[in-house]
Amino acid sequence: MPSNVHLPLILCSLVFLNLQTSLSTDTLTPHQSFVVGFTLISTNQRFELGFFSPGNGSTRDLYLGIWYHNLPLTVVWVANRNNPIRDSFGQLSLQETGNLILYNRSMGIVWSTGDQTVTSNFTPVVQLLNSGNLVIRDQDERNKAILWESFDFPTDTLLPDLKLGWKLDVGLHSFISSWKTSADPSEGEYLFSLEPPEAPQLVLRSGSRKLFRWGPFDGTSFSGGTSLTSSPLFQTLFVYNSVELYFKYELLDESILSRFVISPTGLIQYFTWKVNISEEWNLLVTFNSDPCDNYGKCGHYGSCYSLSSCKCLSGFVPNSPHDWGLVSYSGGCKRRHELNCGHGDGFVKYSGLKFADNPVVWGNYTNHECEAVCLNNCSCMAYAKVDVYGNGSRCVSWVGDLVDLKNFPNGEDQIYIRMAHSELKAIADAKRKHLTVKIVTAVTVVIVLLISGGAIWYLSWIIRHRRNDQIGRSFKAHQSASFQYVEDNQDSGFQLPLYDLETILLACDNFSERNKIGQGGFGSVYKGELPNGQEIAVKRLVEKSMQGVEELKNEIILIAKLQHRNLVKILGCCVEGEETMLVYEYLPNKSLNNFIYDKPTRKQLTWRMRYHIIKGIARGLLYLHQDSRLRIIHRDLKTSNILLDGDLNPKISDFGIARIFGTDQIQEMTKRIIGTYGYMSPEYAMNGHYSVKSDVYSFGVIVLEIISGQKNWAFHHPDHDLNLLGHAWMLWNRRLPLEILDPTVSELSYGNQVIRCIHVALLCVQQYPEDRPKMSTIYDMLSYENMELTEPKQPGFCKESYTKKFDTSASDHSSTVNEVTITTLGGR
Ligand SMILES: *[C@@H]1O[C@H](CO)[C@@H](O)[C@H](O)[C@H]1NC(C)=O
Ligand SMILES: *[C@@H]1O[C@H](CO)[C@@H](O)[C@H](O)[C@H]1NC(C)=O
Ligand SMILES: *[C@@H]1O[C@H](CO)[C@@H](O)[C@H](O)[C@H]1NC(C)=O
Ligand SMILES: *[C@@H]1O[C@H](CO)[C@@H](O)[C@H](O)[C@H]1NC(C)=O
Ligand SMILES: *[C@@H]1O[C@H](CO)[C@@H](O)[C@H](O)[C@H]1NC(C)=O
Ligand SMILES: *[C@@H]1O[C@H](CO)[C@@H](O)[C@H](O)[C@H]1NC(C)=O
Repeated sequence: MPSNVHLPLILCSLVFLNLQTSLSTDTLTPHQSFVVGFTLISTNQRFELGFFSPGNGSTRDLYLGIWYHNLPLTVVWVANRNNPIRDSFGQLSLQETGNLILYNRSMGIVWSTGDQTVTSNFTPVVQLLNSGNLVIRDQDERNKAILWESFDFPTDTLLPDLKLGWKLDVGLHSFISSWKTSADPSEGEYLFSLEPPEAPQLVLRSGSRKLFRWGPFDGTSFSGGTSLTSSPLFQTLFVYNSVELYFKYELLDESILSRFVISPTGLIQYFTWKVNISEEWNLLVTFNSDPCDNYGKCGHYGSCYSLSSCKCLSGFVPNSPHDWGLVSYSGGCKRRHELNCGHGDGFVKYSGLKFADNPVVWGNYTNHECEAVCLNNCSCMAYAKVDVYGNGSRCVSWVGDLVDLKNFPNGEDQIYIRMAHSELKAIADAKRKHLTVKIVTAVTVVIVLLISGGAIWYLSWIIRHRRNDQIGRSFKAHQSASFQYVEDNQDSGFQLPLYDLETILLACDNFSERNKIGQGGFGSVYKGELPNGQEIAVKRLVEKSMQGVEELKNEIILIAKLQHRNLVKILGCCVEGEETMLVYEYLPNKSLNNFIYDKPTRKQLTWRMRYHIIKGIARGLLYLHQDSRLRIIHRDLKTSNILLDGDLNPKISDFGIARIFGTDQIQEMTKRIIGTYGYMSPEYAMNGHYSVKSDVYSFGVIVLEIISGQKNWAFHHPDHDLNLLGHAWMLWNRRLPLEILDPTVSELSYGNQVIRCIHVALLCVQQYPEDRPKMSTIYDMLSYENMELTEPKQPGFCKESYTKKFDTSASDHSSTVNEVTITTLGGR
């Protein structure tokens, strides 16, 4: 009996105590009555059938259901989900006809299985099996026939071996649908099933609307849904034969309890419980957690990339170029060359995609026939050679425009898409050109090698014969100048291109104002384009390094060798005369500060994207602080130094520049304060002390800015004069942390994750550096939901008066204040 059954029910059960002995079993026979207070327990003591009230005492509605025996109430099946008993009396009876009926006090029928067709010598019994399946079968166990089973009518839970799908012979379709709320088992909004039987896919719906879809089955998995198949704990099966078509999962470890549930909010989740070890259900995976699986996210012929950015398939262009690029946009794509059916259309192979929706499985065709049949039907837009049913027919086709694609490089699915003759021609031309370029390059290289080989031979001949060291030396000098690479002494494989000033001036249009894209603590940034068309960002350092030219180049090489997906890549440098410049890859999405403060753009940043960005920055910073060969303190971490690539992966820029100026030690006192108002830790801003913990402080500020969409230094609140940190701290102490969340974020189901990020950020901005965690700890805190966090102490700089404090303390070197002011104006 569940612990939460309230008092009247317990009294009720006392009245019927005399019946209890006959029911300490897993079966119920036609002449037994089963009332509130009694339960059937499966022989393995795992499942229990009885009456329960959901919602931890919040309601007195009574349901007949199955739950785990000896665990906090976890219901896996409900009989009368849409028809609760309101007055705490229920009675379950099995009739001779095999009809299992649930009565209320006035003997009205609340729920029943309906009559079964039984033969004369058949005595039905109800049994709760070890699998959690409630069945009506013959008393004689040698008769294997099952008249009715609860596994045919699941509610919101799939247990191992429960078959989700179709019994074709009796026309039964089984599916799971969510509870309305966690306290109300009646049929909710979300429905998950295998549909349709002709071309089976797994689909999550809300009403008639598709929300998520995986499929069709490609022989090993449902296309695009790896998490639905692979796990060390369970394996999923798709079975098709003449009478059945279903999806189910099998548990690989018997000592583990597991359930596959659709939550009242529409999440499809897999939970486990280790018998005698766990204290609670452990969420192993949420199947619909990839935003790219949101149905039809990128429209026709658009493919969704990680974190829901959309791109057109090659050969297609956006319907409306303006809105394309960042987030959800369903305008889709159109063909670059229109089809002209029957006039030379053909197919182009695309790999690494999740299959589109609305597949049609076409009869009995082999590979070649499939292409021909699709080509001959003008509305057939694509085909794939997959054997959905495992019976040898390998032809799935798509009639009409392709929708709900996602980039899925792990998958092995290949789809052949119909293309116009002119598109095929363009592809062939491009290939030919590519080949020509390759051949020309190869020939050129051979010629150059021959010539230079000849030249070297000739020169060495001169050297040998004239024995003139002078010539030898000038030859070497000439050679190194013509290659224009800085060699790295320790690791000969690495070469950093050294650009000459002229190239850079030309690329950046003489550093014209028009090309300027930002201004930071160490100098200005310009956009440029190299003669080969490559776009670059050039950072022109204002300061003169204290190091000599060679040391400076070596330092730049060391920094350029730091490569990480969350760091901006350095392509090369230019050190000439007074100029020191770093050449970076150019990222068109610009920097984080262009996204998070503006209302229209920040509305597009969902919580999942923000979380992805936060974790990416943490990873990049962790690499700089700990994982790279150099231990780099950034010293000027701020939103304008975080660039975003097309998939919204954050990339830290401007790292290592302090080292270039020869000033980056572990913990240093510096007169020159390079940093930005609002992001500087108190010990750095006031005393010039900096360490990795100063970067941690800046990181905390950035996290709060990402969460709130507000600038720390420009934060205003009508009720007080605190800055963003102070405001967050105040809300934290009032136990209202979520108030700080940007109101344009609407995914409330991630509340706990948001609170966790706020908590971590507050730990980062604590006043004393020794209280702040290290980046490695921070990364773990963000990643592991169950990690214990300490309570944060007061942040440094909570008040607006930060400005005043800072000004007075820094008055003895006012140039610093000016510099700080300058850096706040810009922002790249
Ligand atoms: C149910 O209610 C009891 C008492 O009100 C409380 O102690 C317990 O934590 C609640 N359980 C859940 C799961 O809410
Ligand atoms: C019992 O169930 C019947 C049929 O569902 C219904 O009409 C009747 O009102 C119920 N009686 C009570 C006391 O709930
Ligand atoms: C769990 O503990 C019970 C009682 O100690 C024991 O009977 C049972 O075998 C254990 N189950 C497993 C799977 O270890
Ligand atoms: C395979 O099964 C499908 C679905 O029933 C059927 O349409 C097709 O003809 C079968 N192919 C072969 C080769 O039996
Ligand atoms: C499929 O085609 C093969 C040969 O073309 C034939 O032998 C077989 O009977 C066909 N199967 C069905 C189900 O039509
Ligand atoms: C193309 O195939 C679809 C789906 O099988 C079918 O409904 C349609 O009639 C076919 N069109 C032609 C012209 O054959």
